[in-house]
Amino acid sequence: MVDELVPRKVCVESIKDETWDIKTFRVSFLEGEPFSYLPGQCAMLSMPAVGEAMFSITSSPTRTPMEFSIKKVGKLTDALHMIEKGQELGIRGPYGNGFPVEDMQGKDLLFIGGGIGLAPLRSLINYSLDNRDDYGDINIVYGARSPEDLVFKDELFDKWPEYDNVKVDITVDEGDETWDGPVGFVPQFLEELNPTPEGKLAFTCGPPIMIKFVVQSLEKMGYKKDKIITTLEKKMKCGIGKCGRCNVGSKYICLDGPVFSLDELDDLPDDF
Ligand code: FES
Repeated sequence: MVDELVPRKVCVESIKDETWDIKTFRVSFLEGEPFSYLPGQCAMLSMPAVGEAMFSITSSPTRTPMEFSIKKVGKLTDALHMIEKGQELGIRGPYGNGFPVEDMQGKDLLFIGGGIGLAPLRSLINYSLDNRDDYGDINIVYGARSPEDLVFKDELFDKWPEYDNVKVDITVDEGDETWDGPVGFVPQFLEELNPTPEGKLAFTCGPPIMIKFVVQSLEKMGYKKDKIITTLEKKMKCGIGKCGRCNVGSKYICLDGPVFSLDELDDLPDDF
């Protein structure tokens, strides 16, 4: 549920460079308690005199402060990339349905992310790790264009593999002299790894073209549509069913999603 439509103030506590065009902003609420949220939900961030936009919440609700990992893609995100620690921003939310954390209980979890698409999955991954007894084995498959485009490196390479029954596999489209790991696109890499579908839910987020091929690969490996879950959070604009910019087939992404299992969608949109 949306707490309120009037933005509240947050202060940017820290800014971390993930890659040359992605930063993670850690924010603390200046007025009242932070709103509660689920992994996969979004919030509207605003910057005075610049504008506002919807972003998925990158942190897990089991951890504070709240974090947003934001790629530089336009006026507001360019401006956000220029701010410094201590900047005040507006925030409202949460928006959208979030991932089905209760239905996931007892299942093995397969996460497949590409580029900044790991941001909403990271919330769910850390949530699952913080509720470790509720979930089975965790398999994380992640890819980026190049080694310097990999996000959340400390978690991918150090923190996540430290947990019991967690496996992390990373690929890049193109290697360089710093990289001695796998090279290749995520869907092919996934097929080589060939994680079996039994007892497993698959979550995928990344560039649309990657998701389309990942879905094909998953189906080829025997995953049923109701076991493949994605988030279309980039289609969220107003977040409250008013702007008419998020419908896909018979669904409004902001009201029915942004998290859907494949069998809930008539078809994947071309431009999600
Ligand atoms: S985001 Fe505006 S109607 Fe859905």
